[in-house]
Amino acid sequence: DSSPLKVAVTGAAGQIGYSLLFRLASGALGDRPIELRLLEIEPALKALEGVVMELDDCAFPTLAGVEIGHEADKIFDGVNLALLVGARPRTKGMERGDLLEANGAIFTAQGKALNSVAADDVRIGVTGNPANTNALIAMTNAPDIPKERFSALTRLDHNRAISQLAAKTGASVTDIKKMTIWGNHSATQYPDLFHAEVNGKNAAETVNDQDWLENDFIPTVAKRGAAIIEARGSSSAASAASATIDAARDWLHGSAADDWVSMAVVSDGSYGVPEGLIYSFPVITKNGDWEIVQGLEIDDFSRSRMEATANELIEERDAVKELGLI
Ligand code: NAI
Repeated sequence: DSSPLKVAVTGAAGQIGYSLLFRLASGALGDRPIELRLLEIEPALKALEGVVMELDDCAFPTLAGVEIGHEADKIFDGVNLALLVGARPRTKGMERGDLLEANGAIFTAQGKALNSVAADDVRIGVTGNPANTNALIAMTNAPDIPKERFSALTRLDHNRAISQLAAKTGASVTDIKKMTIWGNHSATQYPDLFHAEVNGKNAAETVNDQDWLENDFIPTVAKRGAAIIEARGSSSAASAASATIDAARDWLHGSAADDWVSMAVVSDGSYGVPEGLIYSFPVITKNGDWEIVQGLEIDDFSRSRMEATANELIEERDAVKELGLI
């Protein structure tokens, strides 16, 4: 297909947007021309115009057009891929309920808009936090879009886990396969080394250090976002944009043959995860579809971590249900 792939990005004037747009425009999803549809809140449109000036100035051969605006039903019209990055950050004095409510309003409206105007083949990736629950809200508010078309981003956690394991074992990142992030994109996530491989050998056995795995690896991956804020003074942006692209590219074009990726997708009850939760699983992607990897053996340690992160997602789901958002 040589018609442009229409890609919506929300929160396009934000930090992640500033990295994401240039990579999308320069061909990170492939050679197919791309048309960017950028959604922002009205006060940010002026800044977004500046970003578009810079996109123009790159003269990217693959960039077929850019449209900006603050109305979701115009920006999402006919889009094949929607990357929902924009969200309300938690500000001082904001309670968790306030945060869920503010984001609930955004993802309710965007889910409805996608439902009515997106292309039939639309795929929707949610990066904005709380990503899993925002995806659940958008999915629930888009009843005509198949539920399998929604996902939330845990690819950054997945990439962080690969990087930590590579550093620990002295392997290169390309030697590491079958990493899994289970559950929520939050501190309760479970990065799993029991099914990962380093040069074809089991990662947990290769490391052979349960203390490191439990007290170093897992918390380092799960709390990496906070460590970056501490060091950089603002949250991870280029790495989040890079992971957003990795996830979209693999979703559209397929994951590698001898590997899998982590994606938060609607649970079908696999591994005892309650049906309907947006939970990160190991998945194989092909031609725009994904399939949860089946048959992995789960020991008691993994089981308890997988349940803890599921329980947090249940709490989030119940909270947004109570607010009438789903
Ligand atoms: P940012 O604050 O720099 O940018 C967010 C942008 O979203 C702002 O320009 C804002 O005007 C816009 N926005 C707010 N409401 C909107 C709406 N209703 N429609 C369209 N745009 C809207 O934030 P940054 O650093 O770009 O991060 C964006 C989100 O990504 C945050 O929620 C952050 O927590 C999340 N994130 C997720 C990661 C993941 O791995 N899933 C990793 C890093 C960040």
